[in-house]
Amino acid sequence: MATEATIDKDKRRFLITATSVVGGIGVVATAVPFVMSFFPSERAKAAGAPVEIDISKVEPGQKINVEWRGKVCWVVNRTKEMVDNLPKMDSRLVDPKSEEPQQPKYAQNETRSIKPEMWIAVGICTHLGCSPTYRPELAPADLGPDWLGGFFCPCHQSKFDLAGRVFKGVPAPLNLVIPPHRYATDTMVVIGEDTKA
Ligand code: FES
Repeated sequence: MATEATIDKDKRRFLITATSVVGGIGVVATAVPFVMSFFPSERAKAAGAPVEIDISKVEPGQKINVEWRGKVCWVVNRTKEMVDNLPKMDSRLVDPKSEEPQQPKYAQNETRSIKPEMWIAVGICTHLGCSPTYRPELAPADLGPDWLGGFFCPCHQSKFDLAGRVFKGVPAPLNLVIPPHRYATDTMVVIGEDTKA
């Protein structure tokens, strides 16, 4: 026959187990919506449907990859320093004012974006279609003391700044493409649909 002490012990063990499981569910529940929002259903992707992205957890300086119409798109949450550095790049760029039609009208500005910090682009090099590497660091040894952060294409060494504007003297002829996009809310971006703004 169970004594009061053993019942208490069993109850405590159950509570500990239940707490651990609930704790585990909590972690999964917070992680899944974040991941899921980056990976739309196969059917939606095949149809080329707009993709809705939760950007609330993209940290300053971080880049995430999203798939839209079978292409990798990037969402970069640029820091204030990154945004402030953009005008310093102009003299080194082919098309600093983004006059070529590589972006929607609402992204034809210095930051090539709707919001200054949040930048969305198709992650495909305009030379021969490789995927440039995100290199946000300042003056790394391999890119030189003038490097203020940007993207480096490993295939034929094209360089782009943190607004995807192409450097002079590299094989890529054009700035990276900005896809149509809009903000459904402050923290939800829809790639594949134009803003009315
Ligand atoms: S494909 Fe990027 S430089 Fe050639």
